[in-house]
Amino acid sequence: MNDRLSFDSVSVTYGHGSSAFTAVDSVSLALEPGEILGLVGESGSGKSTLARAAVGLAEPTNGSILLGDTEISHAKRGALRDRRRVQMVFQDPQSCFNPRRTIGQSIDEALQAAHRRDGTATPNARARKAEIQNLLGAVALPGDTALRMPAQLSGGQRQRVALARAIAAKPSVILADEITSALDVSVQGAVLNLLRALQRELGFSVLFISHNLAVVRIVCDRVAVMRHGKLIEVGDTVSVMEQPAQEYTRDLIAAVPTL
Ligand SMILES: Nc1ncnc2c1ncn2[C@@H]1O[C@H](COP(=O)(O)OP(=O)(O)OP(=O)(O)O)[C@@H](O)[C@H]1O
Ligand SMILES: [Mg+2]
Repeated sequence: MNDRLSFDSVSVTYGHGSSAFTAVDSVSLALEPGEILGLVGESGSGKSTLARAAVGLAEPTNGSILLGDTEISHAKRGALRDRRRVQMVFQDPQSCFNPRRTIGQSIDEALQAAHRRDGTATPNARARKAEIQNLLGAVALPGDTALRMPAQLSGGQRQRVALARAIAAKPSVILADEITSALDVSVQGAVLNLLRALQRELGFSVLFISHNLAVVRIVCDRVAVMRHGKLIEVGDTVSVMEQPAQEYTRDLIAAVPTL
């Protein structure tokens, strides 16, 4: 079951009174099931804030966020459970792992949480171990990675583990926030190919936040452009890249180093 994620006139304001700053300003945008939607825009335009709002790391001051027909914004009863169908993967996966837990334990936690959410019986430890091995295999990591600590992995390996853990949650949507920016160029390609392969196999949709428009062009079905908290353009990747409607988008594209 892969649901549509829709942002409906979402605004996020940080701070209060004279120091209030609107980072996301009335954004309406939907991620169709199974699509990869690129989200681009200059630094500070509100991309991460929009994604964070969908997983409860930022609270919308206005508007709502829905997964299918269920509102997942605002801390409503049940919202927390449904929100777990939306998984975010960050630029620096180091900070997202408990440094005292093995990789296996971290993935196991996500697996068990998914069963609690779905009201399905949690498989026994042995069956979960097998599933963890499958997940590690899916992201092309050896099975003994389960026994390692986060600090014992390379950045690229950690990013693969972050994807494995996100997938363990059986997500409808993955929010990928600059997931390859901290990686070596050769590893970037591997992680991107992996994301695409998993997306095709499992059918989740991806909000792909990136500064790298060359990568966005290759990976994304559609592209959305943000500026100063507002959504200023959205369309098929090819149309936006070849015939941008906005001057701002044109400038973003012009700044891309040639492949
Ligand atoms: N916790 C916070 N408190 C106050 N202001 C914040 C907070 N987080 C972000 N902001 C501000 O909100 C604006 C949008 O930030 P956001 O991180 O969403 O931008 P971004 O588009 O993801 O930028 P980048 O491409 O650099 O990651 C920025 O001006 C930022 O300084
Ligand atoms: Mg950001």
